[in-house]
Amino acid sequence: MKTISVCSFKGGTAKTSISLNLGAALARFHNKRVLMIDFDAQANLTAGLGLDPDNHDSLAAVLQDSKTLQEVIVHTDHPQVDLVPADTWLERVEVTGVLSSDRYSHEKLKKILAPLKYDIAIIDTPPSLCWLTESALIACDYALVCATPEFYSIKGLQRLSYFMHYISERHPFTLLGVALSFWNARGRNNEDFLNVVEDTFPKKVLQTKIRRDIAVSEASIHGKPVFETCPKSRAAEDYLGLTEELLNKMNVYETMESPCLSSTPF
Ligand SMILES: Nc1ncnc2c1ncn2[C@@H]1O[C@H](COP(=O)(O)OP(=O)(O)OP(=O)(O)O)[C@@H](O)[C@H]1O
Ligand SMILES: [Mg+2]
Repeated sequence: MKTISVCSFKGGTAKTSISLNLGAALARFHNKRVLMIDFDAQANLTAGLGLDPDNHDSLAAVLQDSKTLQEVIVHTDHPQVDLVPADTWLERVEVTGVLSSDRYSHEKLKKILAPLKYDIAIIDTPPSLCWLTESALIACDYALVCATPEFYSIKGLQRLSYFMHYISERHPFTLLGVALSFWNARGRNNEDFLNVVEDTFPKKVLQTKIRRDIAVSEASIHGKPVFETCPKSRAAEDYLGLTEELLNKMNVYETMESPCLSSTPF
C-alpha cells in the first residue's frame, strides 16, 4: 500500500476536495482499492462522502487503543472506496489518554496503517502544522501540497516546506507536487505566484491546475465526488488529469532506486 498525505499550512486550499476526488478517481477510473483517511477534526471529508461524523468513531479511538482500525473503517457508497471517518476527538488527541505519555506518539499512525492491504491510502490533514499533520507526514510515502494562487498562502508554503524538510530527515517521504486549485488561466499574477512556489518547492508545481468550478462545492453538499454529480464539469476533467499526473509520477518514483531522499525530499 502507498500512502499519500495531503497537506497545507493555510486553510481552504482544497485539501479535502482534492483528497475526495483523487480517491474517487483512483477507484473509479484506475481500479484501485482506496482507503480515505479523514485526519481533521472538522470532518469535512467524512461529510463529503455522505457520512455523519457524529455516528462514527475516528482514528482517535484507535490511537487511544480503545478500538482497532478494522472496527472504525467504514464502506462508502462508492465501490472500492473505504473511509476512516473523523470526529472532534481528533482535536488535541495527542495530549489525551495513552498518547500523552507516549514519547513516540507521532509514529503511532504509521504503525497502525502498516498492516493494511489497500492499493492507496489518502490522508486528509488539518490546515496547521500540528501533531496530526506531523503524524500523517511520518506515516506517508508521498506528500501532496495544496495551494491557491494568493499571496497570503506564500508564507504558509515556506513554513510548510521547513516543516516537511525537518520531518523527512528522520522519516523519508517523497513530495509528489504542489497542486493549485481555484486556478484562473487568465489571472494577472499567475506568473509571479508560480515563481514563488517554484522558489519554495523547485520543479514541484504540478502541470494540472484545478480551475474554480461551482460543481466542486455542489458535489460536497450532496456528499459525492464530482464524477457522480457533474461528470462533464471542468472540475471532473481537472481532477481526472491530476489523478493521471500523480499516478505517472508515482510510477516513475517506484522505478527509481531511492525515491525518498532523506535530506532533500523536494
Ligand atoms: N476548484 C474549486 N472550485 C470551486 N470551489 C472549490 C474548489 N475546490 C474547493 N472548493 C470549495 O472551497 C471550499 C474549501 O475547500 P476544501 O474544504 O477542499 O479546502 P481545505 O483545504 O480542505 O479546507 P480546510 O483547510 O478548512 O480543511 C469548499 O467549500 C470547497 O467546496
Ligand atoms: Mg479540509
